[in-house]
Amino acid sequence: MSEQKTQPAELKIPGVDEPIELPIYSGNLGPDVIDVGKLTSQGHFTYDPGFVSTAACESGITYIDGDEGTLLHRGYPIEQLADKSDYLELCYLLLNGELPNAAAKTEFVDTIKNHTMVNEQLRSFFKGFSHDAHPMAIMCGVVGALSAFYHDSTDIDNPQHRMITAHRLIAKMPTLAAMSYKHAQGQPFIYPRNDMGYAENFLHMMFATPCEEYAVSPTLAKAMDRIFLLHADHEQNASTSTVRLAGSTGANPFASVAAGIAALWGPSHGGANEAVLTMLEEIGSVDNIPEYVRRAKDKDDPFRIMGFGHRVYKNYDPRAKVMQQTCHEVLEELGVQDDPVLAMARELERIALEDEYFVEKRLYPNVDFYSGIILKAIGIPVEMFTVIFATGRTPGWIAHWCEMIGSSYKIGRPRQLYTGSAKRDFVEVADR
Ligand code: CMC
Repeated sequence: MSEQKTQPAELKIPGVDEPIELPIYSGNLGPDVIDVGKLTSQGHFTYDPGFVSTAACESGITYIDGDEGTLLHRGYPIEQLADKSDYLELCYLLLNGELPNAAAKTEFVDTIKNHTMVNEQLRSFFKGFSHDAHPMAIMCGVVGALSAFYHDSTDIDNPQHRMITAHRLIAKMPTLAAMSYKHAQGQPFIYPRNDMGYAENFLHMMFATPCEEYAVSPTLAKAMDRIFLLHADHEQNASTSTVRLAGSTGANPFASVAAGIAALWGPSHGGANEAVLTMLEEIGSVDNIPEYVRRAKDKDDPFRIMGFGHRVYKNYDPRAKVMQQTCHEVLEELGVQDDPVLAMARELERIALEDEYFVEKRLYPNVDFYSGIILKAIGIPVEMFTVIFATGRTPGWIAHWCEMIGSSYKIGRPRQLYTGSAKRDFVEVADR
């Protein structure tokens, strides 16, 4: 719970005699916040494009210290979770606030396994998509379409319904993700296998065919699980804020998460992992890196180094460090000693970390810098990268939605600084 400070902030506005008093609140960690909610009644709005300095909600799920490069889920550091926990345990933690004991963990894993299939009728939706549709386009559609199937549990005011929906989404996302890939391949869908682990089952649905079993390597399944885990939540990022905003209207959770998937798709957000690989392929060789670094620094060139920089982290993204280590493990397991793409990534990282421009602007590798290289090594096609981010982020989206709906919340409704025409009279078409 936040606590109100005894001393308010005072805002002095030119031409107004008395300063406006604004309450200040402290959370458990991080900077205090100034509550500007009452400014409207005094005839003012605040202006903060991109929400750079604006906290839109109270939340107890995830904490980031961008200067330190710290990421905590329910208080636990991401490095410890990546090392000692697994994705489904983290899903439980995000949803319930505490780590499960052994019995609760078994029950949760069983529950998720019970929900992995999707309604048979949902298969028909895929037929409507062109064979070359981007899998994220398919995901926006089919996840939203889940709203049409689960009328038994869409009473958002019922906490039990909310939890069933969370379980369904976490369980069905890998199934839908693999179906979107199979559709593009022109291959039959592979049903989920509930005797397999979460990540193992996903890889099986991706790569098995009815004619040939796919033996999932435990190292690759572990790497996949870690990729899901590292993406599970990241507090009020663009897609999570979108889920909250859509959900704040009372929209059902499947539609709200579909909105989050759409927000994730862009290259500034979840689309960056795909963009990193495309960029490395375009760079082509280590020798060309200085030219691309020069372009990234040129104000007149829109080119940016994908996988570098972050709105919140002004230090190494802690997820990128774990991702880099996983990348080495995976390439070693696959016997890839001299991967040219990895060599380029390492050299780009080395140059950028020493370059004055990147140092001054505190631009460090983010989570997406190495994830694409791992996914490529596992055999996942580039256009599926953001779908995998979406699958991993689902527990974060739904945990934030549950947190919001379970508390007192208002419909999200930002204001604006109007710069259009003043009031004017309509002119008949003949007189224009
Ligand atoms: N390459 C070159 N310059 C950059 C980069 C980059 N990757 N990122 C930021 N800058 C520069 C930017 O031009 C600006 O310079 P100036 O102050 O001279 O105008 C300065 O650094 C600050 O950048 P910004 O765009 O104002 O920062 P932001 O917080 O609005 O944007 C970002 C953050 C992640 C969108 C941006 O760093 C970026 O476009 N990075 C590449 C895309 C990427 O990797 N995105 C994944 C983010 S992590 C995964 C996720 O959470 O989705």
